[in-house]
Amino acid sequence: MIRREDNEILVCDIPARELAEEYGTPLYVYDIESIRENVRIIQDAISYNPLSLHFACMANNNISILKELRCLGVRIYVCTPGELRIAQIAGFKPSEIVITGCNFSGSETKDIVASGATLIANSIQQLVAFAKHKGVKKLGLRLALSMTVPSGTINPSVGVDSRVGLLEKEIEHAMAVAEKKRLSINGIHSYLGTNILQYTYFVEAMDRLLYFAEQLKDIEYIDIGGGFGVQSRPDEEMFNWQKFGSAINDRMARLCGFLNRNIELKLEPGRSIIGNAGILLSRVTEVTRRNGRTYVGTDTSMSNFARPYVYGQKHEVLLAEDFKERPVEEIVFIGGNTVASGDFLAKNISLPRIEKGDLIAIMCTGAYGFSMSSHFCCRLRPAEVMVKGNDVRLVRERETTESLVREQLFGNVERVRPSKVFVGVSLKTPGPL
Ligand SMILES: Cc1ncc(COP(=O)(O)O)c(C=O)c1O
Repeated sequence: MIRREDNEILVCDIPARELAEEYGTPLYVYDIESIRENVRIIQDAISYNPLSLHFACMANNNISILKELRCLGVRIYVCTPGELRIAQIAGFKPSEIVITGCNFSGSETKDIVASGATLIANSIQQLVAFAKHKGVKKLGLRLALSMTVPSGTINPSVGVDSRVGLLEKEIEHAMAVAEKKRLSINGIHSYLGTNILQYTYFVEAMDRLLYFAEQLKDIEYIDIGGGFGVQSRPDEEMFNWQKFGSAINDRMARLCGFLNRNIELKLEPGRSIIGNAGILLSRVTEVTRRNGRTYVGTDTSMSNFARPYVYGQKHEVLLAEDFKERPVEEIVFIGGNTVASGDFLAKNISLPRIEKGDLIAIMCTGAYGFSMSSHFCCRLRPAEVMVKGNDVRLVRERETTESLVREQLFGNVERVRPSKVFVGVSLKTPGPL
């Protein structure tokens, strides 16, 4: 587990300091034991069977992590052909993959159908596009349920303004189209939004899904999506898996009784499986005390960890070593190493007095950390390590500046015939074609 003990942060029993020294910073660190525990919490809470957990790999697509999840019996949810490919490489069988995404091109649709994954259409147009392929005999439907979610929810996918998913009033039409195309609707899916901490919203969603499921004669599964909240700071509440589980168990039992057969329950957790199993380690590069404020400059940024900038998400930041020796606390602003004025990793937080060279840990960054990273300002993506007991494995190398130019074409591309396009341009001689 990731914990603060004595005078440092430990990942399992390995000091974060040792990891930073060995692999450098910025560094994403993932703890397999925490992942295992998170999976166990969900499985223990939901006794209903058959239950399938499909890890939402948009949260973290490191193949080594996905392989670990597969070994734990977790399946996978993908939303793009790229994620589908990653899932295949990680060894997931077609029957273990659920896909629902949007705006697929014709060739993407063809590849997705050919993969044999479980398909969930998120619009009538997509249903029609899938139906054109002979192999498609059944489909699930993704709904934007008519309900509200807590204000401030990131990526809400409910209500009539949702960009994604069928509206409840479109279901009848979708079913008529499916019938005409000789497709059976075998599943029903919803996704409310991310990081919802109150379980009652999911129970309300479940009630709505059951209402529709009871009317679908070919129903085989209910997929309640992901979005289960994770406590990312001590002052936040925890998602109540126990209460959620018992409400869901009851409802599934009732549905099965009503239909007189077993219906699979699917969940697509991302953050709740890996969020608190990851940290981002970073070194302090500068400390500026000015006008009553302390700005802590770091070797990471919004390019490595975008959520505070993009969503205003607050993550706990801790000094990763020697915190006991520094009793003086001060309020600091932790800044990234891009010049974007809003590139803060944390604002207004209290830390022991920080000095240049200190190691800090941005907590709860296992989900939507690396997977949302970018090359903004030509900052390089961090390395990733996985800790499994005493075993530490580098699972993604730190990028080099080659990564920034690998796909770029030098010169006026429009005038260059494909055969003349330069590949593998050396960094030393990036001259025009
Ligand atoms: C359809 C769907 N399922 C699952 C997830 C994963 O959500 P979370 O990581 O919040 O559990 C998402 C995230 O956007 C999603 O869109």
